[in-house]
Amino acid sequence: MPEVTPAPLPVVILISGRGSNLQAIIDCMQAGRLPIEIRAVISNRPAVAGLQLAARAGIPTEVVDHTHYTDRAEFDNRLQQCIDRHVPDLVILAGFMRILTPAFVEHYRGRMLNIHPSLLPDFPGLDTHRRALEASVKEHGASVHFVTAATDGGPVIAQARVPIQAAETPDSLATRVLDQEHHLYPLVILWYVQGRIREDNSGKVLLDGLPLSSPVDMASIEQLPCGPGCYSFVVAS
Ligand code: GRF
Repeated sequence: MPEVTPAPLPVVILISGRGSNLQAIIDCMQAGRLPIEIRAVISNRPAVAGLQLAARAGIPTEVVDHTHYTDRAEFDNRLQQCIDRHVPDLVILAGFMRILTPAFVEHYRGRMLNIHPSLLPDFPGLDTHRRALEASVKEHGASVHFVTAATDGGPVIAQARVPIQAAETPDSLATRVLDQEHHLYPLVILWYVQGRIREDNSGKVLLDGLPLSSPVDMASIEQLPCGPGCYSFVVAS
């Protein structure tokens, strides 16, 4: 029997700005390391850099400008219609800076991911790098989680840790965390595409069918059942 290559997973990516995580995902996809089809990149802000990155990669872009809607529910309804026209199996929030209504989140429950620049549950919300330094933590980092109605509160799948250095500033820390995000997010998306991770009915993350007792630490990736090849599959250039 000839080997059948599975069709790439249809996804929609939501952004609000710069789009560096979007670019990392596009790079992995274009390099043949992430079997997804990005059906659309949707921004809630017009003319942001991420839209240009998508257009340059030949990906359809759309804007649903939140300032044109009177309340969150109306905006989320419109956004949902816009997303669902593309029939994605996964919705990827990549720097999408909007609080989402419970109805919207429920609609995509178990099939919407977000990346957040902190070691959740520490520092949900904005300005995480400055807040981490003010709290004198020894390490900071990034988390990828399933999205629930609690902002930045959904079950965490994996984290990348970044030690705080001497004379660290919010900007220097943000740069190093962002670099880790660009490895972490494509890897977790790959796991989703491979059917390796899912959220069960009780809100627990299952990896290879087993509940995670704590988020996967990128530093321990070689101990995973998939072995080191899984990691290099994504980060090797
Ligand atoms: C990233 O730090 C991400 O973790 C957070 O928003 C930022 C988006 O950056 N949710 P970019 O637009 O992907 O460059």
